[in-house]
Amino acid sequence: MVLPIVKYPDPILQRLAQPVTDFNEELHALANDMFESMYAAEGIGLAAPQVGVSKRLTVVDLSFKKNREDRLVLVNPEIILQEGKQHEDEGCLSLPEIRAKVSRAARVVVRAQDLEGKWFEKDVETLLSRCIQHEIDHLDGILFIFRISMLKRDLALRQIRKLQRAGEW
Ligand code: NI
Repeated sequence: MVLPIVKYPDPILQRLAQPVTDFNEELHALANDMFESMYAAEGIGLAAPQVGVSKRLTVVDLSFKKNREDRLVLVNPEIILQEGKQHEDEGCLSLPEIRAKVSRAARVVVRAQDLEGKWFEKDVETLLSRCIQHEIDHLDGILFIFRISMLKRDLALRQIRKLQRAGEW
């Protein structure tokens, strides 16, 4: 089922999401719906708060449906190591049309649970690393426009207000 994507300034996007404790059928269904919703919105990553669920769950697929093995589900993820720097363009399904360069670690090692509750680690770089950092930020209530300079953020917020006035937000 395709779920509607929550947009800024919905308060759920700026709230700390709660840890997942039940690895039940409901969680599996939510992850499936999140993949479907992400593909429908043409995104490569989606966090549960973006579909109105304040839980620590995120899905990522850089291949956009092409490779089944690229489908990544991260439950209760945490970054246990970060290294280097990258500064690249980012966008977000909750902030359509807004893009800005964001500084992130180049490489991260993330520790997370799968849908059965089993812990695993993943060592990632470049785009996948940035995407995972962006999604974990969502679980901590941080949108990428709060990781850029105040000047650029004001520009983005002005663009949002313009889109809102035009009824395009
Ligand atoms: Ni996002």
